[in-house]
Amino acid sequence: MFILISDFSKHVGESVTVKGWAYNVRSSGSIAFLQIRDGSGFTQAVVAKLAVDEAAWQAAIETTIESSVIVTGTVSAHPKQAGVFELQATAVSIIQRAEEYPIGKKEHGPDFLLDNRHLWLRAPSQWAIQRIRDGIIRATYDWMRDHAFIKIDTPILTPTACEGTTELFEIDYFDDKKAYLAQSGQLYLEAAIASVGRCFDFGPVFRAEKSKTRRHLIEFWMMDAEAAFVEHEENLRIQEELVSFIVGRVLVGHMQELNILERDIAPLENVKPPFYRLTHVEAVKKLRELGSNISDMDDLGADDETKLTQLYDKPIFIEKYPAAVKAFYMKPDPTDPTRVLNADLLAPEGYGEIIGGSQREDSYEALLARIREHNLPEAAFAWYLDLRKYGSVPHSGFGYGLERLVAWICGLHHVRETIPFPRLLSRLEP
Ligand code: 4AD
Ligand code: MG
Repeated sequence: MFILISDFSKHVGESVTVKGWAYNVRSSGSIAFLQIRDGSGFTQAVVAKLAVDEAAWQAAIETTIESSVIVTGTVSAHPKQAGVFELQATAVSIIQRAEEYPIGKKEHGPDFLLDNRHLWLRAPSQWAIQRIRDGIIRATYDWMRDHAFIKIDTPILTPTACEGTTELFEIDYFDDKKAYLAQSGQLYLEAAIASVGRCFDFGPVFRAEKSKTRRHLIEFWMMDAEAAFVEHEENLRIQEELVSFIVGRVLVGHMQELNILERDIAPLENVKPPFYRLTHVEAVKKLRELGSNISDMDDLGADDETKLTQLYDKPIFIEKYPAAVKAFYMKPDPTDPTRVLNADLLAPEGYGEIIGGSQREDSYEALLARIREHNLPEAAFAWYLDLRKYGSVPHSGFGYGLERLVAWICGLHHVRETIPFPRLLSRLEP
């Protein structure tokens, strides 16, 4: 019977067949150990020369690292390690015998690994990261739908910018028109809330940013959420509930992966509402105390975020940034119109921004003035301005960067490992 390794616990003592890859092989004169991975898990097949026929023994000793194999045997519980199962092989065959595998046991530099990303993805650490990434995506869909958000798919080819115009990928459309790759689906979600109330999108976005930091990708995945009648305070509550739920789900469902990554889970267990909150004014004050030369109306730099988040044991909202450093669509704070009703959510342990969000400007006149101040093409934003003419309501939203979330939850230094095929300033391959 063909089964997945993840189902071994239900088949102890039974004869089963697994299909997968040998990620490590070892043999002596009379016994061979094939460590097999099938995508669902890992196991060791023990091949005793006397227990198998000649063809199976030959296959076992000819198996090279990363050869694809089919192994039949009896499932046995590991004598010492609980929850670990082995396969006492009765038959072994090779599907394809791998050439010498370029990724060895020795340490490789990041460039070598990224050049071989198509193979590196098979490493247990990379398996663990992709499984956690998938768990985060699934948790997000579950939470959003349980909280009345429906998925609205927003376009990738767009006629305007959503965030800064300096970070736009421009492409030739038809009839001499230009199109831009989406930076966020937010503006389209703002249209959809008047139809569905609360919605979210989840897809690839693009930033032509000449940033070469551990937090920046050129192509990354964003989940934007938008809700009618939600104001600043509630916007933050939604975010802390969502993030706590996601982390909780990973802790319940992905301990094996977190162990492979040697992630210290204590800081993750702490992730429960309410999160810390600092106004931008308070954050600047703290940063100055820490020796930063940040000015009152400056945006926080990556180093500032790192310093700040090292002080706290939970995510922190930094709210009410100066309007001048934030996007045109944010609503000014009525108590201080030089600032906006926004918040960036910073992950602890030095990770920094994982979410950007705000209450949106809902007045037609104020939004038009902002579009003009930012020298944005008014005609292209006519449809967006329309939303403030036909039943405008207070509304808010936010967007998380999936790779930043994965990097933090997995405890990775750089976002390049969090996406299957990273697009970086100096890398488009493989
Ligand atoms: O802060 P950002 O630019 O916000 C927006 O795009 C809003 N329109 C979202 C919204 O309100 N619906 O981006 C949101 C998040 C950031 O907090 C960060 O996690 C991630 O996207 N992000 C990046 N991740 C990887 N590489 C980059 N170059 C990123 N730029 C932003
Ligand atoms: Mg941001």
